[in-house]
Amino acid sequence: MVAQHCVQHLIDFIDGSPSPWHAVASIESVLKAVQFVQLDESAKWQLHAGGRYYVIRDDSSIVLFVLGNKVPTESGFKIVGAHTDSPGLRIRPNGATSSDGFARLGVEIYGGPILATFADRDLSVAGRISFNSNEQILHKLVRFDQPLLRLPNLAIHMNRGVNEDGLKFHKQNELPLLWGQLAESQLPQPYWRELLENAAGVEFNQLASWDLAIFDTQKGAFWGANNEFYADSQIDNLASCHAGLRALLDEDVMQHAESTLVCAFFDHEEIGSESHIGAAGSFLTDVLQRISIALLLDREDTARALARSFLISTDMAHAYHPNFPSAYDADHRVFINKGPVIKSNANRRYSSESVSSAHFMRWCEEAEVPYQRYTHRSDLPCGSTIGPIASANLGVRSVDVGCPMWAMHSIRESAGVQDHEYLIKVLKQFFLN
Ligand code: CO
Repeated sequence: MVAQHCVQHLIDFIDGSPSPWHAVASIESVLKAVQFVQLDESAKWQLHAGGRYYVIRDDSSIVLFVLGNKVPTESGFKIVGAHTDSPGLRIRPNGATSSDGFARLGVEIYGGPILATFADRDLSVAGRISFNSNEQILHKLVRFDQPLLRLPNLAIHMNRGVNEDGLKFHKQNELPLLWGQLAESQLPQPYWRELLENAAGVEFNQLASWDLAIFDTQKGAFWGANNEFYADSQIDNLASCHAGLRALLDEDVMQHAESTLVCAFFDHEEIGSESHIGAAGSFLTDVLQRISIALLLDREDTARALARSFLISTDMAHAYHPNFPSAYDADHRVFINKGPVIKSNANRRYSSESVSSAHFMRWCEEAEVPYQRYTHRSDLPCGSTIGPIASANLGVRSVDVGCPMWAMHSIRESAGVQDHEYLIKVLKQFFLN
């Protein structure tokens, strides 16, 4: 029941977070409810013993931390990293067009989604807009709740090979989404801007620009004879953000931790992390350095603190799919509901090495959580995570772990109910250790 409860909480979090900008806003509202204080990167920071703080950079990356009972030079930073973004479709700046009386929205592909899964879904739009207001440029979140748009399939009668050849969309020509039928005199661009202005509550003609993602309006659900699985969009990687957050916000953890506890959730992982808010940027380093400065540590003390620190990079793993047995290395099959996965790769696409893996195994044993080991097939390119990037940036030891899942990068992914609770348990153990 505990596991079920945790996953219901996760599903609510995902359904309330249809874009990375919304995900950070959801996290912020949770933090505010437990007295975390927002720090402004352009102001001087004053930190107090036992204080709880968070920093948001450009709306879609967030670092939150709780000062430990000991100074970082003695006990370091314990960091859980994850990413707020998911692969999908993003609306182009001049995306609203018309074709034969149909209003269509041109999209770009963000990261590596399974495009076919976007067909015939009740899609909608969420993200943020920038607008002019009394000489100022402001920005705010926007979300349409109703299914606003759709990518209808071509009937099988015109696509006879679909079940043999797979469902393919031409990335330029066949992905524009349908969102209405236009009256004779109606122009798609002003119509679209008006819709957005109304949805965002912005005055007419104030809209300047946007970052808008396509999302699936269908809510998350449990499935299986015993509700042992769950399905939702963006499980990769909002499930890991949620697990890190739940572990850190445990009252016992926050009160008794000796180390300074950190959760760092970055945007832009799915496109390589190279941005001022991504894991390859300065965000996390800046925050840790400024914590040190506020605690009056000098450069050597900061280096000493980092030398005692540890990063767990949490991201989803590829669960064994019984219909596709040959897709896996036979000795590294990992199973749904059999515990968090330690991901290794000889070419360091994952940050795990023997020492960091051994630490994670120890924390699992202490938390009475099973764990599994994964490596990718050698004849398939391996994915990556923020682990190697953030660890290299900080100079901090790291392990890559995550819950096993099916259908990674589908608009409707699946994972195991029990695994989510396991991950929260072991992350708590890590924070307290
Ligand atoms: Co991921």
